[in-house]
Amino acid sequence: MNEQLELISGQIAGMDPVAALRRLTEQYPGRVVFSTSFGWEDQVITHLIFSNDLPIEVFTLETGRLFPETYYVWNRTLEIYNKPIKAYFPEAEALQRMVDAKGPSSFYTSVENRKECCYIRKIEPLKRALSGHKIWVTGIRAEQSPNRHDMRNLEWDEGNQMIKYHPLFEWSLDEVKDFIKKHNIVYNTLHDRGFPSIGCAPCTRAVLEGEDFRAGRWWWEDQSKKECGLHATT
Ligand code: ADX
Ligand code: SF4
Repeated sequence: MNEQLELISGQIAGMDPVAALRRLTEQYPGRVVFSTSFGWEDQVITHLIFSNDLPIEVFTLETGRLFPETYYVWNRTLEIYNKPIKAYFPEAEALQRMVDAKGPSSFYTSVENRKECCYIRKIEPLKRALSGHKIWVTGIRAEQSPNRHDMRNLEWDEGNQMIKYHPLFEWSLDEVKDFIKKHNIVYNTLHDRGFPSIGCAPCTRAVLEGEDFRAGRWWWEDQSKKECGLHATT
């Protein structure tokens, strides 16, 4: 697999995100997917995909616990681009079992319970969303955490047995913001209120000036690496 990765890496080296994404869709027709959480990085990528008519399926993990502001961005994005965004929901029976047994907010009570919730609401639906595909595009940037700093823009995801591509990997936050402004892209207004990283509502809060990008995610888990398992293998 490393050979394949090196080959593709060489092919897209130096390309801008649109050219690179296009090359990947030519290499793997119908097998490139993009996951959006409607954060500002994701809105940039969605704009690039939709406005360039790239044949990439866009999906979101509808955890059922998103912020109202996130649903607003989702709706506006559908209206503006008039392109489909597929929603993957948690499996109903597993969710019912968990909530019946532990209530609606079990994630605060232990790391184990938090991981169970993330598994049911995100990881299992993600597996369904990625199934049959070869390239998974995400909005990850190196700057987002020390852990992510060590990643590469193109990498092998052992857990999902596919290639991950992060088109904005090298972008700074200012570059992301400037692009959004320049192209008048709709974005989540929580970003203007101290939320650099936006996940589920009960598990995300604003950060203070100078705090880490991901400090507002699962903030009660001090020792956590602040990853929910979506990108755990990296
Ligand atoms: S997470 O692992 O902490 O939840 P983060 O919020 O930083 O991830 O987002 C990183 C990338 O993961 C996003 O750019 C997006 O590609 C993907 N992602 C995160 N949450 C979702 C979601 N609910 N639906 C789809 N993709 C998501
Ligand atoms: Fe559940 Fe919180 Fe994980 Fe969302 S982020 S799936 S609410 S534990």
